Amino acid sequence: MYVYDPAGHKLMPVVAGDLRARSNRRGAAATAPVNIFYVVDLAKYGSAPFQEPGLKDTEIQKSYFFVDTGLIAGNVYLFAASTGLAAWFHNCDKENTQKELKLRPEQRVLFAQTVGHPA
Ligand SMILES: Cc1cc2nc3c(=O)[nH]c(=O)nc-3n(C[C@H](O)[C@H](O)[C@H](O)COP(=O)(O)O)c2cc1C
Repeated sequence: MYVYDPAGHKLMPVVAGDLRARSNRRGAAATAPVNIFYVVDLAKYGSAPFQEPGLKDTEIQKSYFFVDTGLIAGNVYLFAASTGLAAWFHNCDKENTQKELKLRPEQRVLFAQTVGHPA
């Protein structure tokens, strides 16, 4: 498993092993070439580089990270479509993924997205 470092546009290894089945047990997720897990780090709202009214409010934080997830997933769908790949946004095994990735309590697994070759 890797964490995506947007600043360096790099994948950084975090945990050894194949955790694709945590993405989704049904369908092709467990064998697809790529599974993306969307994780929010709530601690980062405390160090945001801009001031926004309500950014400390958990409901407003929620609106931000869900919109962010949708925007990123939409870009993944567009990239997949432009290269002839298939993509699928879905729920995942949040509890076990959280444990196996050794995430801090403020890091919450939200959803997953599978990318692969069309059936
Ligand atoms: C927040 C969210 C969660 C979703 N979770 C699932 C899911 O767990 N399983 C699933 O089959 N589709 C889920 N979907 C729907 C899929 O993204 C997709 O729209 C659906 O599988 C139909 O895809 P198709 O039109 O390519 O057949 C979810 C969509 C959203 C927005």
